[in-house]
Amino acid sequence: MENPFRFGTVVDSPYFTDRVEELSRIAEILNSKNHLVVISPRRFGKTSLVRKAVEQSGRKFVFLNMQQVTSIEDLASLLLREILRQHPFERVKHLLKNFRVVPTFSTNPLNDSIEVSFQPAINNFVMLEDTLSLAEKVSTEDNRMIVVLDEFQEFIGIEKGIDKKLRAFMQEQKRVNYIFLGSQESMMTQIFESKKSPFYHFGQLMRLDKIPYDDFLSYIMERIRVTAGDEQCERIAKDILEETACHPYYTQQLSSVVWDLLVYHKTPYDEVVRIAIENLVRVHDLDFERLWLTFNKTDRKILQILCKGLSPYELRDMPTSTSFSAIKRLTQDGYVIRTDRYLIEDPIFRHWIEERQT
Ligand SMILES: Nc1ncnc2c1ncn2[C@@H]1O[C@H](COP(=O)(O)OP(=O)(O)OP(=O)(O)O)[C@@H](O)[C@H]1O
Ligand SMILES: [Mg+2]
Repeated sequence: MENPFRFGTVVDSPYFTDRVEELSRIAEILNSKNHLVVISPRRFGKTSLVRKAVEQSGRKFVFLNMQQVTSIEDLASLLLREILRQHPFERVKHLLKNFRVVPTFSTNPLNDSIEVSFQPAINNFVMLEDTLSLAEKVSTEDNRMIVVLDEFQEFIGIEKGIDKKLRAFMQEQKRVNYIFLGSQESMMTQIFESKKSPFYHFGQLMRLDKIPYDDFLSYIMERIRVTAGDEQCERIAKDILEETACHPYYTQQLSSVVWDLLVYHKTPYDEVVRIAIENLVRVHDLDFERLWLTFNKTDRKILQILCKGLSPYELRDMPTSTSFSAIKRLTQDGYVIRTDRYLIEDPIFRHWIEERQT
């Protein structure tokens, strides 16, 4: 029997749940000439959601992770390679003749794929312009290409002024839908929400939330039902969600360990969630120890008080301005998330702090 929970990778069914409204909203946006911006805290499921949505659209799409892109010519060549994967070389050959910097092609005999490279040039932006134009030229009114730029904020830092040039070019395009993804803690909000930024309100903004409680509850229950009766399943699933507060990644992670304990170790139902947490705390002990050493005293105090479920502003021996800037920094770095209150992002780290540092 295979573990029915998945974490740490992009997920699709059967490991994908809910997001019904989000999928239909993305479909609507893709049916219009608008672009989309998806922002959420880390590991909320942005990549999984958008990948599913573009696959469901049935349209041609290119999905690029900007963390892997090292330069403008690199982006142009990756993009061109992806376009050529979907459109036979013979059919688009004539369009490549207009490129201002001629790309070099080589075939990889192992998998028959085409590798593309551009020689660095003085004005490397023209390569990107010509490639983005190609995305438009191969599109038709009914099959407009979708270009997804995941972790988009990484690219903006690649060269000063690139945001202005890119936006000026993209806004003239009529037959491409762009989707930009990135996490809340990063520069994404700044890029799309700050009036001074060239990309201000360039696309429809979607802030992705956690998975709704009831949906996640039945998702977990269905998967552990093979090992426990209805009543026990519900209790276990509720305990898991109480720990993870419906965070997609941590819920799948904890559920996965619980499942292993139930199936392979026959752990008693009423102890299984607690033991799963203990195991995870132990597995991550060294990483958490290292992480803890990187925090200053103020950060540590804030994290300790959050563990107790209190507000960081209740620290009497710390000026409010100090706790305010510490909590802001911890949120930006992703260790703390803000929903209706401030919470430590990783429930296992929270347990580690409780156990070892308070
Ligand atoms: N719809 C979903 N249903 C169930 N679990 C999900 C769903 N979406 C995401 N997850 C869980 O969250 C994890 C992270 O998903 P994903 O990588 O898509 O998030 P992300 O927001 O793109 O993360 P990152 O910030 O690291 O780029 C997945 O491995 C999976 O365990
Ligand atoms: Mg992602």
